Amino acid sequence: MTSMRTVVVYYSNTGNTRRIAEQIAAQLGAELAEVTCQRYLRWYGPLAMAWDIFTRHIPVVDVVAPTDAEYDLVVIGGPVWAAHAAPPVLSLAGRWPTARKALFVTCSGSNPNSPPDTAIIDMQRALAGGEDVPSAIFRQVDMASPRADTLARGFAAGLASALANSRAGPK
Ligand SMILES: Cc1cc2nc3c(=O)[nH]c(=O)nc-3n(C[C@H](O)[C@H](O)[C@H](O)COP(=O)(O)O)c2cc1C
Repeated sequence: MTSMRTVVVYYSNTGNTRRIAEQIAAQLGAELAEVTCQRYLRWYGPLAMAWDIFTRHIPVVDVVAPTDAEYDLVVIGGPVWAAHAAPPVLSLAGRWPTARKALFVTCSGSNPNSPPDTAIIDMQRALAGGEDVPSAIFRQVDMASPRADTLARGFAAGLASALANSRAGPK
């Protein structure tokens, strides 16, 4: 738990990213904000999702976290789709411009032709101004066990202490 104002913003289609986001938020004492994409919830949702994946179209999304809030840290997470960040996550570009960012993805991680690293790079470019911000990858092999929660909390604890150290350092 920290006194810093933090939020964990996530998009999750099947629940894996939500679970990790909840663990990170619990460890940080952070707000939790889900990103939703109305197009994907309509009858043609799977088609819209496939279109966005293959054309790299960025859909309109809803997110409950206030854009203008003064956050110390915004943690953004989403799934890997076709070796890239899921398009709804990239739609958060430009939000919270002054907050520090941290990123995470969840993925199956089982196909060497679809590595998750490119998704992190997508997110760094779109959401963190190309900066090499703290990031984490959570694979299916971990998410199938309680280890995922431990890894998520460990990532969050590292973020909290890095932020506390940076605040305590010389001005
Ligand atoms: C359309 C689609 C494409 C995917 N592509 C990849 C991929 O390229 N590499 C990978 O490791 N996992 C891939 N996955 C698996 C998801 O990234 C993984 O199941 C993730 O944890 C789902 O997160 P969610 O439950 O929060 O939606 C894909 C899943 C879907 C539905």
